[in-house]
Amino acid sequence: MCDLSFNSAFPLLKSVFMELDEAIRGRRSVRSYIDRPVSLGLVREVLEAATWAPSAKNGQQWRFTVLTGAAKRRLTDLFRSELQALSEKIGAERMGSSFASCRVMKQASVLIMVWNINERGWATEEHSVAAAIQNMLLKAHSLGLGTLWIGDIYYALDSLTRHLGKPWKLVAAIALGWPAKTPKPPPRLTVDQVTEFLR
Ligand SMILES: Cc1cc2nc3c(=O)[nH]c(=O)nc-3n(C[C@H](O)[C@H](O)[C@H](O)COP(=O)(O)O)c2cc1C
Repeated sequence: MCDLSFNSAFPLLKSVFMELDEAIRGRRSVRSYIDRPVSLGLVREVLEAATWAPSAKNGQQWRFTVLTGAAKRRLTDLFRSELQALSEKIGAERMGSSFASCRVMKQASVLIMVWNINERGWATEEHSVAAAIQNMLLKAHSLGLGTLWIGDIYYALDSLTRHLGKPWKLVAAIALGWPAKTPKPPPRLTVDQVTEFLR
């Protein structure tokens, strides 16, 4: 009831809200990309969205390393060889989706490595960085770009961190590129399955 009167009084605001809803529901994890570069301007727009995320004590603990071309190849080659070495040690069946994620990292035009400066050593600093990542994914989707949030870098975290030479905590790699295809949405739990309402 309240919604209806609000929407009819502010039709423009209603369309803004619908776009937000489309971005939230329409964003997908994209695991296949076409071979087309993403302009630096678009990459910067995505990063700009990240900088508007909320953060613990407004500490803005996120930092980013953007890799394209030879720099991206060097990192993904290293990741691939680390995965291979680990697989020989612990067995291929324990490598999960890591090799597939590495292929996505190779295929996407851009790789954004996301850091947590973790200045205060708070757990909440990691939350700030996760919020920044979500902003990036939504902004990229609104620009027609695809993304994949890659946690599989944890299979080779130390060597990737050493390679990039930063004193921070590496949180994720974000593959960014023009989607070859957009997957169907995987199923979601309902609000009632994940929520308790207490009074
Ligand atoms: C913290 C985090 C780590 C993830 N790591 C990977 C990954 O390493 N490889 C991968 O293919 N997908 C990864 N994903 C993507 C999830 O598989 C995906 O978000 C989930 O299946 C829901 O699909 P959707 O993003 O299309 O809604 C990750 C997502 C999150 C939030």
